[in-house]
Amino acid sequence: MDKIETYKTSANAKVNLFLRVCGTLPNGYHRLYTVMQEIDYCDELLVSIGGEGPAEIVVECEGRTDIIPNKNLCYKAADRFYSSLRNKLAAEGKQDSRSIFPRTVINLTKNIPSESGMGGGSSDAASVLIVLQEHFGNPFTEEELGKLAVNVGADVPFFLYGGTCLCEKVGEDVTPIASLAGLPVLIVKPSEGVSTPECFKAIDSEELPFFDGDAYAGYVSSLTEEKDSLSDKLDLFLTGGELLVNDLQKPAVNSVPQIGEIITALKDAGASYAAMTGSGSAVFALFDSEEKAKEVSDTVKTDPRAKDCIVILTKTV
Ligand code: C5P
Repeated sequence: MDKIETYKTSANAKVNLFLRVCGTLPNGYHRLYTVMQEIDYCDELLVSIGGEGPAEIVVECEGRTDIIPNKNLCYKAADRFYSSLRNKLAAEGKQDSRSIFPRTVINLTKNIPSESGMGGGSSDAASVLIVLQEHFGNPFTEEELGKLAVNVGADVPFFLYGGTCLCEKVGEDVTPIASLAGLPVLIVKPSEGVSTPECFKAIDSEELPFFDGDAYAGYVSSLTEEKDSLSDKLDLFLTGGELLVNDLQKPAVNSVPQIGEIITALKDAGASYAAMTGSGSAVFALFDSEEKAKEVSDTVKTDPRAKDCIVILTKTV
């Protein structure tokens, strides 16, 4: 009987500490300049490779009717991985292409809310790529895996690295910067989500806000300083001042006004920084102590502006 190997792994979420849209590409995608930050809140995955049964990719996610198995990013990641591996081995004249496509069952436990801008689907997909890369003995170089990842989704390359990274172009240029790990993060996610394509489409109808590349390059290079204490890390991040902008926030607030109300509620409750992540609809606030984060979390939970929201207290990784 064909042996089954099962890998248990997790897939952390992210927030965008800031996100600038710098241009539109001929294929309709946008050139981005953003710092992504991994957070300690995850989906869980069990990936079983091999065994009897048809050589197909199966995605299971109990209790989630919104997950369409062969449209899911995990499916896309495994599918792209296998077709690239087949092509690579065929080009090297190494192996019969059919023998390297074992049955692959991906079992997902979703915790990261969808349509939140927290990268759940992309992180799951990156975890699948990492598992397959390990299972097949690292057939792809880091660069090849990065290219494969961006073809699965714009945020996927970041999750191959995690931590704190500057991400540029569509998302494929990833540069790790000094870690802002350990900062308490409060996530407040309205029940209504924002569609990423709709949000990007809305930004196309207006002139893009000015992007001062030199100012950002200076700020991001200052972020490479190592800081020991949480308050020093937060202070360093906050030196970004007016550069700390998410260009997708305005169109997202137009579509889900509660996003703007939550940001105000978090600031009123004492958060020194609160903004939307990605294309929303989740909002995050950063703190230099767990006590402060807990206090703001308790206040916001009773605030009518955060009615029906998912509230998550976690930290940066
Ligand atoms: O690549 P991904 O599927 O994550 O992107 C979702 C949608 O977001 C794309 O279909 C596109 O409309 C938009 N997008 C974009 N520019 C980016 C990333 C995403 O326009 N850099």
